[in-house]
Amino acid sequence: CDLQGLWRNQLGSNMTLLALNTAGPFSGFYHTAVTATNKQILGSPLQGAQQHPGAKRHPTFGFTMHWQFSDSTTAFVGQCFVDCHGKERLEATWLLWEEVPSHRDTWKATRAGTSIFTHIK
Ligand code: BTN
Repeated sequence: CDLQGLWRNQLGSNMTLLALNTAGPFSGFYHTAVTATNKQILGSPLQGAQQHPGAKRHPTFGFTMHWQFSDSTTAFVGQCFVDCHGKERLEATWLLWEEVPSHRDTWKATRAGTSIFTHIK
């Protein structure tokens, strides 16, 4: 399962993962279809790492977003699978922490969910 390429999730967000180096770290670019802010959405870089790069496995991975239009941070963790038609798919859980004014507001700082990305290219 190869993480490199163009991916789209069920919300219509697009993500490009760039060539993995042999050590496991990778970078990429994310264009979210939705936002919890009232800002204009901008494409944003991401930094991640995967297990067992180069091996023929269904590797786990994680990446962190550096949003260019939001103060929040989002981390995705998941695994790459190949379906019965040979199509690659990423299943991931994400956790978003939004900047809040004080520690008293942390109860409302987080959102979480799952994303399924299919390979488009
Ligand atoms: C923000 O609103 O603070 C930044 C954008 C967050 C978009 C989230 S990340 C998890 C979920 N999956 C997506 O593709 N977009 C939303």
